[in-house]
Amino acid sequence: MSKLKIRVDQDKCQGHARCKSLAPELFELDEYGNAHEVGDGTVPAGLEDKAWLAQTNCPEIAIEVTEE
Ligand code: F3S
Repeated sequence: MSKLKIRVDQDKCQGHARCKSLAPELFELDEYGNAHEVGDGTVPAGLEDKAWLAQTNCPEIAIEVTEE
C-alpha cells in the first residue's frame, strides 16, 4: 500500500488552523500560528483520511498530500 506524505506550503499558509483541529496528529502550529507537518510529514497508517480531510478543508490550499 502506498504511503501518504503531507507538506504545508509556508508561502500559502495563513494560520487558519483547520488542519490542526481536524488532524492534530499530523500538524503542529508554530509561534506565528502557521502549520507545519509533524516530523517528516509521513502519514501514519490509519490517519490517511485525516490527511485528505485537512487538505480539502484548508482555505488557502496550502496542504499538499502526495503518495509515495
Ligand atoms: Fe495553514 Fe491551512 Fe492549516 S492556512 S494553519 S495549513 S488550515
